[in-house]
Amino acid sequence: MTAVLTLNQKRLYEQAKSIQDKDKLIVVVKNDAYNFGMDLAFDAFYAAGVRGFATTNLKEAIELRKKSNQIMILLLDPSTEFDLIRQHNITLTVPNLSFYTQYRNELEGIQIQLVFKNLLNRFGFEKASEMITVLDDNHMTVTGIWTHFAFADELSDLRYDQEKANWVQILDSLSSYVENLTYIHAQNSASYIRDGLLDQHTHLRAGVFAYGTRPYIEGLDTGCAKQTIKVSATVKDIIQISKGQSAGYSAAFVAKKDTTLAICDIGYGNGILRSRAKHEVMINGHFYPIAVMMMSHLLIEVDDGVKTGDKVYLYNDYLRLDDFAAKGVGAFSEQMAGLNHQTFDIQIIPLE
Ligand SMILES: Cc1ncc(COP(=O)(O)O)c(C=O)c1O
Repeated sequence: MTAVLTLNQKRLYEQAKSIQDKDKLIVVVKNDAYNFGMDLAFDAFYAAGVRGFATTNLKEAIELRKKSNQIMILLLDPSTEFDLIRQHNITLTVPNLSFYTQYRNELEGIQIQLVFKNLLNRFGFEKASEMITVLDDNHMTVTGIWTHFAFADELSDLRYDQEKANWVQILDSLSSYVENLTYIHAQNSASYIRDGLLDQHTHLRAGVFAYGTRPYIEGLDTGCAKQTIKVSATVKDIIQISKGQSAGYSAAFVAKKDTTLAICDIGYGNGILRSRAKHEVMINGHFYPIAVMMMSHLLIEVDDGVKTGDKVYLYNDYLRLDDFAAKGVGAFSEQMAGLNHQTFDIQIIPLE
């Protein structure tokens, strides 16, 4: 028995549907759908009624187009691969006025969306007047405008109010154009949960929440987002070490008392973050601390209740990615991105 990564496609579908049934979702599927796996994720999201997909990667965008002609695929980052973009009917984000000026001829015939820079200070137009230059150009096919809030996840940071106000001002300045646009979107998961879909917006543009994870945990129960993955491994052996004895490379663990250690077949080589080792695992419904994480093994401080062959959970409904994110293990995307699928037995809980 090796380490097991369980991908709950059914829950992914249910989570996406619970959002999509209320408000239209553009789901962010970058980095192989947050490392859930694009094929499984796409089928779940599509079955849930989602028809908007966003990624930063042109290769992923092209793969998505092969799956369906019925979806809008937004490339969030700029690209100059205009022929490929046109050929696969990808919607391209135009990042600023100088990009538009430089590539105006190449952009003809491509669906584009304009991004407002706002406080994130990544790509983006600086002012409404610059966006109007493009919106007024009859040779451009502008289907939408968007921005990204940099502070929505920080509940006590007032700059979220500021970036919302900046964006509302942009929408006001573009009011005569807004009604002709199919896509007006700004909100990530946190912003959507905090405020619902903002006025004039056609879609939210979510990642974490769509994948069954809470973007923050204050005031939210686990029922609003049912975790869509599990990670488990197996106790391969039980050993006893005496007080003062060490275990692991370079005596990574030194026993403060006589200790029972369970040796389990998972480690950072599977892509588990090292910071995850500061927190407990679950065996037979009880929590136990990790003594040492190695590349392919965990040493876990256990008691008599644990025996060889028992299942060890690192992530399940009680060991949640969002709780670990709040404890500083790493963002949801960091914990997910690391998981090395090739090192796991993959178990899928399918749509039906
Ligand atoms: C441009 C953009 N929009 C939306 C999202 C989704 O954010 P969240 O996962 O917080 O919902 C991301 C995530 O990185 C993003 O970069």
